[in-house]
Amino acid sequence: MKLLINCKELVQLLPSDVQWVAGEEMSRVNSLSNAWLRITGEHIADFGTMDTCPTPLPGEEVVDLSGRMVMPCFVDSHTHLVFAGSRELEFVDKIKGLSYAEIAAKGGGIQNSARKLRATSEAELFELAMKRAQEVISYGTGVIEIKSGYGLTPADEIKMLRVAKQIGEATRLVVKTTFLGAHTVPAELKSKEEYIEQVLHEMIPQVAEEGLAEYCDVFCEKGFFTPEETERILQQGLDFGLKPKIHANQLHVSGGVQVGVKMGAISVDHLESMGQEEIDVLKSGKTMPTLLPGAAFFLRMSYPPARDMIAQGLPVAIASDYNPGSAPSGNMQLMMSLACVNMRMTPEEVLHATTINGAYALELSSKVGSIAKGKLASLIITKEIPSLAFIPYSFGSNCVERMLLKGEWV
Ligand code: NIG
Ligand code: FE
Repeated sequence: MKLLINCKELVQLLPSDVQWVAGEEMSRVNSLSNAWLRITGEHIADFGTMDTCPTPLPGEEVVDLSGRMVMPCFVDSHTHLVFAGSRELEFVDKIKGLSYAEIAAKGGGIQNSARKLRATSEAELFELAMKRAQEVISYGTGVIEIKSGYGLTPADEIKMLRVAKQIGEATRLVVKTTFLGAHTVPAELKSKEEYIEQVLHEMIPQVAEEGLAEYCDVFCEKGFFTPEETERILQQGLDFGLKPKIHANQLHVSGGVQVGVKMGAISVDHLESMGQEEIDVLKSGKTMPTLLPGAAFFLRMSYPPARDMIAQGLPVAIASDYNPGSAPSGNMQLMMSLACVNMRMTPEEVLHATTINGAYALELSSKVGSIAKGKLASLIITKEIPSLAFIPYSFGSNCVERMLLKGEWV
């Protein structure tokens, strides 16, 4: 595709060598008003202000987007998009007062999703995940991470990861996959140790051999996996070429942040329970703290201390955690609203958190996350909205008019 676009504003210009935006810097977004943008093939070729607009090349499609903003697509760096069925009955239990841990103890939670997933074929799972993928694209997502973790047997974990990879082939999304066998211990196994052995010696080698995942994640949490178990599993992942990520500090101060930084995790995600010690540990490393405001909202938890983290110079990323239990939405515009309202992040900060910092959490900062020459033309065309702040402000509405993914309209 060859495209020449003119628009009201190009938002989020950052050179492709910027890996993340942290602290104070997060409050400033670079934009260009009254601008043009040229796309060649899958990539951004060039851009500038309208006084320098080039004449269209032969075969180039000229698109008038007056009144619209063009910004990089959202990078949703943490999802469980592949799952079999919804869990709205647990939602009702939660309304009536049961806690996440109580629901899990009743055979609900992850076990419930595992039962449903095992009873669903790969083809059906793919159909279900495709519908969700199309929906999240319509809300602005162009890059997405997808985890396993509802299979909990070698065959079912592999089935999930195959489906996740197929989503990347069947859509124009950029998909990165993560093995999360250590999500919980499956109900049918007698001991956790037995399951950990299976994760270490059957699942990780098989996932690595088939090239089904780039990352290995562990739910490091009281009642799930301890920091020591997390470290063992992540080390085995590393030995097989899978890079670490962690579900850390969701329900308790779990030690997950410390293990993550020690192991050089690409990101530690959730962070609802954080102290100064955890913030200090993050300051010493290169691990991206990733906040999941949809899960905090849905589970009625306290939110991560985003203001403290940013004030102390850290970057933060924001992702949806899209999953049937704790965050049944993959709408990144809604995540922006939740982050602004409940963590007092500004619209500029949440834009960095949902674009370039999410890209860092997937090691894609040089390819996506900002408008820069040579980056992928995976872009949001907004409706005729007055400003960037209007997106988180108008919560519940969709400010996306059209999406361009890898240089093609979708
Ligand atoms: O990220 N915390 C662990 N895993 C998911 C929720 C899993 C579920 O309830 O299905 C999360 O919130
Ligand atoms: Fe999650």
